[in-house]
Order: sequence, then C-alpha cells, then structure tokens
Amino acid sequence: MNQGHEILYLSKQDIIGLGGEQSAIYVESVSRALELHSKGDYVQPLKPYLRTAGSDGHIADRIIAMPAHVGGDVAMSGLKWVGSKHDNPARRNKERASALIILNDPESNYPVAIMEGSLISGMRTAAVTVIGARHLAREGFGTVSVIGCGVIAKMQIVSLLEQFSAVHMLHLFDLNAAAASHLAQEIRQQFPHVEVLAEETAEQAVRKAEVLVTATVASEPYIPFEWLAKGTFVSNISIMDLHKDVFIRADKVVVDDWEQSNREKKIINQLVLEGKFSREQLHAELGQILSGSRPGRETEDEIIVLNPMGMAVEDIASAASLYAKAASAGKGTRLWL
Ligand SMILES: NC(=O)c1ccc[n+]([C@@H]2O[C@H](COP(=O)([O-])OP(=O)(O)OC[C@H]3O[C@@H](n4cnc5c(N)ncnc54)[C@H](O)[C@@H]3O)[C@@H](O)[C@H]2O)c1
Repeated sequence: MNQGHEILYLSKQDIIGLGGEQSAIYVESVSRALELHSKGDYVQPLKPYLRTAGSDGHIADRIIAMPAHVGGDVAMSGLKWVGSKHDNPARRNKERASALIILNDPESNYPVAIMEGSLISGMRTAAVTVIGARHLAREGFGTVSVIGCGVIAKMQIVSLLEQFSAVHMLHLFDLNAAAASHLAQEIRQQFPHVEVLAEETAEQAVRKAEVLVTATVASEPYIPFEWLAKGTFVSNISIMDLHKDVFIRADKVVVDDWEQSNREKKIINQLVLEGKFSREQLHAELGQILSGSRPGRETEDEIIVLNPMGMAVEDIASAASLYAKAASAGKGTRLWL
C-alpha cells in the first residue's frame, strides 16, 4: 500500500524514438478517436482557456486544459495542458507552443504516464488534416498550399507528403518571408520530388490550392471566398483566417465537434451569434464522415471547409498508443510518486 506508485515519463526524444515524428501512428489513433467520438464513446468537457492578459492579450497567448476519456478497446483518460505565447519564437527563441500530457488509468484513475505533449499535439493536428483530405479533398490531388510557415505548418506538410504520394507541388506563404523560404528549403531537402514555391502573397498561394492549410497566428480573417478555386478542400487549422462568407458560401462545412467549435468568439461562433450559421447548416462532424453516417466529398467542384478546433480525445488516443508502444518496448524513464 505504501510503496509508491510507478509512472512512465516519455521525453520528446523518447517519443521520436517510438516513431512519433511520423504520421502513421497519429493517423491510426486519431481515426479511432474520431470514430469513438461519432459513437459517443468518449467524455470531453469543454476546455477552459487561461488568459492572463484578459481580452487585450494576443489570441495565441493562453494555456488550455484539455481533459478527455476515450473508450473502446484501449480505454484511457488524461489531460493535455498546452501553453502558448505568440512571441515565443521571436522574443525567447522557443517554439510558440509547449505541452505536457498526463495519462490516467480509467480503472483506478491513477496517473500512469507523463509525457512531452507538443510533438503529439502538432502531429495529431496534422493527422486531422490527413483524415480530412482522405474524405473531403479531390481524389489524387497534387497541389497543396500552406499559409503560415511555423512548426505546425511543417508537421502538416510532412504528414500530407507521407500519406499522399500524388502531391508534387507545394505553395507556401508567410508574412515573414524568411520563415517561408526556410521551410521551403527544409521540405526540398526531405522530399526532393516535390516542387516548393514560396509565394509573395497569400492570395497567390490560396488561388493555386487543391488542398489549403491555414497555420498562422492570425487574429483577423484575410481569405475571402473568391480566392478559393472550385474543388478546394480547406483544412482551417488556425481557425481565424477565413472570412465569414467562406463559411456561408462553401458547399460543405465540417467541424470536429460542434460544441467545441461554437465558442470563444471564433468565426463560426460569431456567425451563430449574428444568426447567420447554425448546427443545421453544418454538413457534419468529421467522425460522422469516418463512420459513414454522413457523406464526404460528392462532386469534383465542391468547396469544402474543415474547421477543426482540436479535440482532447485526439491527444489522449495518440498518447495512449505511444505509451502502449513504450511500455511494451521498455522505453522511457520510470518514476515513483
Ligand atoms: N486546430 C488545432 O487543433 C490546432 C492545433 C495546434 C495548433 N493550431 C494552430 O496552429 C497555428 C500555428 O501554430 P505554430 O505553432 O506553427 O505557430 P508559429 O508561431 O510557429 O508559426 C506561425 C507562423 O504564421 C505566420 N503568420 C502569422 N500571421 C500570418 C498571416 N496573417 N499570414 C501569413 N502568415 C502569418 C508567422 O509569421 C509564423 O511564421 C496556431 O494558430 C495554433 O493555434 C491549431
């Protein structure tokens, strides 16, 4: 009874050693989480945002607590505690986001693991785009555009290139031109078969996209509906980039979770408060498309927007897979509470 309780600690290097820089484990885990979400086999309280500068602060300055329980065969509970400061890269030479994940055994509710969370968080977000693209992008798409060229953008691109071999053209834009050319260089080195162009305006990059990913820290929209070509699939990862008319005029709008998306004065929430968008106008939650209860893309020309706020079930399912892999391979550091 008094001998202490053992948990496993996984550093970022441990996670990389377990395959945590590649998309495969996240695509599998997030697909499972989304299917459990569509079946209701999960618990996910709305996430609280801790903002110390109140409403005056930058939109990306916050710490978010994201608890969840995922059911199914590998049931697990846990929490992602994810901090962000928009000026970490420029002022502190650190990545914008940092995170810790705690996993709890749902039988005793005791913690079983603690792990670095920013890699898992970024890679599971990229897996959401991959899964979205499988169902909502044109089959065989070859051209991807990414706006914002930071840490998240790179994981989005690497995961898309790992999972879709037909992609041969990448258009990048960042307000900071050096960030775009640096990322372009990294991608050319890792994927020499892909042509990578750093564009001079967001409009140029958006107009050329078959798949468009937003990965900025923008607080105001700048992408109007007119910029989107027919057939574009938009994975709106940074949430604030698309003008309201995009949500109103797109053929299909998909979210990860309606309750999570319709809050915090994000664009969908603003539209709902103005009476211009509602649950009825939403095409689906992504898990419903995976489980087949709602259709994905139905025609070549549809413009489809996925607006994924990010769900804790995705983090906990991914972390649980990595924890299981580490435990069976004897990796990580054992700690006693
Ligand atoms: N939806 C989700 O589940 C989810 C999960 C993780 C991160 N995110 C979001 O991803 C975004 C990117 O995160 P990051 O860690 O890569 O940030 P980062 O600070 O490393 O990179 C952001 C980049 O965007 C550029 N940028 C800012 N405003 C721009 C604009 N209007 N147009 C073009 N470029 C612009 C910056 O110069 C910077 O290079 C954040 O908004 C974050 O909240 C979403």
